[in-house]
Amino acid sequence: MTEAGLVVVANRLPVDADADGGWRRSPGGLVTALEPVMQRAGGAWVGWPGTPDAEVEPFDFDGTRLIPVALSAEDVELYYEGFSNDTIWPLYHDVIAAPRYRRPWWEAYLRVNQRFADAAAEAAAEGATVWVQDYQLQLVPAMLRAARPDLTIGYFHHIPFPAYGLYSQLPWRRQVIEGLLGADVIGFQRVADAGNFARAVRRLFHYETKASGIRVPQPDGSVRLALAKAFPISIDAEAYIELAGREDILARSREIRASLGDPAHVLLGVDRLDYTKGIGHRLKAFGELLAEGRLSVQDATLVQVASPSRERVETYAHLRDEIELTVGRINGDVDTVGHTAIRYLHQAFPREEMVALYLAADVMLVTALRDGMNLVAKEYVASRTDNHGVLVLSEFAGAHDELGRALTVNPHDIEGLKDTIMRAIEMPPAEQRRRMRALRRRVREHDVEAWSRDFLDALAATRGESR
Ligand code: G6P
Repeated sequence: MTEAGLVVVANRLPVDADADGGWRRSPGGLVTALEPVMQRAGGAWVGWPGTPDAEVEPFDFDGTRLIPVALSAEDVELYYEGFSNDTIWPLYHDVIAAPRYRRPWWEAYLRVNQRFADAAAEAAAEGATVWVQDYQLQLVPAMLRAARPDLTIGYFHHIPFPAYGLYSQLPWRRQVIEGLLGADVIGFQRVADAGNFARAVRRLFHYETKASGIRVPQPDGSVRLALAKAFPISIDAEAYIELAGREDILARSREIRASLGDPAHVLLGVDRLDYTKGIGHRLKAFGELLAEGRLSVQDATLVQVASPSRERVETYAHLRDEIELTVGRINGDVDTVGHTAIRYLHQAFPREEMVALYLAADVMLVTALRDGMNLVAKEYVASRTDNHGVLVLSEFAGAHDELGRALTVNPHDIEGLKDTIMRAIEMPPAEQRRRMRALRRRVREHDVEAWSRDFLDALAATRGESR
């Protein structure tokens, strides 16, 4: 029995099983974001250990109590691959891929959300704060409130919240909003996401939505306020700055450039292999610049890290085929024996190697078609302690709201993307410095600690506000 004052509930635990039966800290945005907060608070984290049918007892890791929630192979298929990643994910990312609405998936989502809520209710001390994370667990806030009205409940939505015209497709649109409205604070990445959510609440429930909160009528006739607001997530900027200063990592970044044949220009893309990331658009633009002779394979290399993701979901399997076909075609057409156009890596790397790659890259390409935030953009900026390098950033990534001094692109506009890539490559060092300084200032000042502090402060301020 755990009696934690702060409980985080997320689909995944912040660890991955390693080969010899131990655990190591997982990479990835959410974990990176919350690790320091949890260590400080000595809290508990409720989540799935990441493999089907794994029955694991609670254990302590890096100052946090980890409470595993088991998912059967069927739960993984219906709740995780199905409803979370084949219904909600594509719907909330502006239907870039077609969402599938399947009733057994929804039933599994209900069942599994209840299991997470039960585990959190058991772990939380009287009057504790519970912080629910992301789209896999949208029903947990209301389930938790029903079981434990003493708790203060926060929810943070890491991905976009779509416009009502799209959201309204969801057959369970009312239930999902009711689930979210169980939270005292519902955090979003962008002001626009919070606005889309408030609009959906008005359209479906006619509740009053004000800056001070959404007025949610209670069964006893009282009204509870639920605050829906933007809290853009960030990174542990100092950790990246520190890595960027390490001699071995600087040496590794030089080695990377040398092993690419020391091209004049190294471009970099780093993404989970996901259709929201615009990897195909990026490859198309780069391929055309080579084909048209605006760039040459001797002078420019694109390193594309595409980490494996959700591989059993069909749309992801197709995407992989499509991307790998494109890479093969471009390389086949323009490579020489000594130079390759695209160095494609379908792998995940430790943070040290990522920083070495960031330091090796003159131009970072973030061309997402829709993205909640995109922490890679912030990691690149934080790592560029020499104030050199150019960030090309899609206006459809949440990060764009904060990183105004990046070079903006609409990734659907291939000609515009090509011109912007050329502008990035040709940018004079003085302009690079001016832009990078401003970008770095924003990321250093608004790091993940500021993010979690802002969110938890807003949550604490809601205590006792029901009337
Ligand atoms: C996004 C989501 C996270 C998710 C991560 C990795 O960043 O917002 O909730 O954990 O992708 O995806 P996965 O399906 O492997 O957990």
